[in-house]
Amino acid sequence: MTFPYRPLALAFITVVFSGVFIQRVQAGNGNFYAPVADTLVREECGSCHLTFAPSMLPAAAWKRMMSDLTNHFGSDASVDPVSAERISRYLNDNAADTGGRRYSGKLMRGVSMQNPPLRITELPKWVQEHRKISAAEWKRKDVGSKSNCLACHTEAERGFYED
Ligand code: HEC
Ligand code: HEC
Repeated sequence: MTFPYRPLALAFITVVFSGVFIQRVQAGNGNFYAPVADTLVREECGSCHLTFAPSMLPAAAWKRMMSDLTNHFGSDASVDPVSAERISRYLNDNAADTGGRRYSGKLMRGVSMQNPPLRITELPKWVQEHRKISAAEWKRKDVGSKSNCLACHTEAERGFYED
């Protein structure tokens, strides 16, 4: 391939290399949690809050959560049995310990796979990562709750949790 102008060739090279670089960053750090791809899960589990990435909790947590959706953190999140079955399968197949998501390792540090907390925000690693955030910040109107990831992680829908 020959380029008529040197600047054009340089621009081309820059584009190619930044593409490689971005891919490396996405694959290499521990801040990517694949977003939910299943439409039904997005609809049923994304109407009240961000559709949490299944790789952020072990399968046992999702199983316990799905076994009682009428008492879901004080809300009724129940769905019909057929949907529940499908959602359960998706969550199970993509959970931190069963989905083969090497990214989740960091977040699972110190978590019992048999008896995990039901909240991502109660995982020891999550607590540690957010320890510098003051009580006043959590209470800010646009945050309101620790579960409101999107208030601070604007790329959370796409699975990215950089600060
Ligand atoms: C009717 C509304 C509603 C629906 C539908 C719903 N949730 Fe929730 N969910 C909540 C509320 C309320 C909380 C607690 C939020 C808080 O503490 O601020 C919550 C919290 C959670 C948390 C814990 C977040 C944390 O703090 O770490 C997870 C995980 C979760 N939901 C998963 C799901 C899944 C999976 C589904 C689909 C089966 C679902 N939710 C559907 C209302 C809902
Ligand atoms: C009030 C703002 C705020 C909210 C709400 C919040 N986070 Fe964070 N989060 C941060 C900040 C700030 C950091 C960076 C901490 C640091 O690097 O010192 C962080 C770090 C992280 C990291 C680690 C990223 C890394 O660099 O390794 C993950 C994963 C994460 N948050 C996930 C979540 C999830 C999931 C939720 C919702 C359940 C959430 N956060 C809610 C502010 C927030």
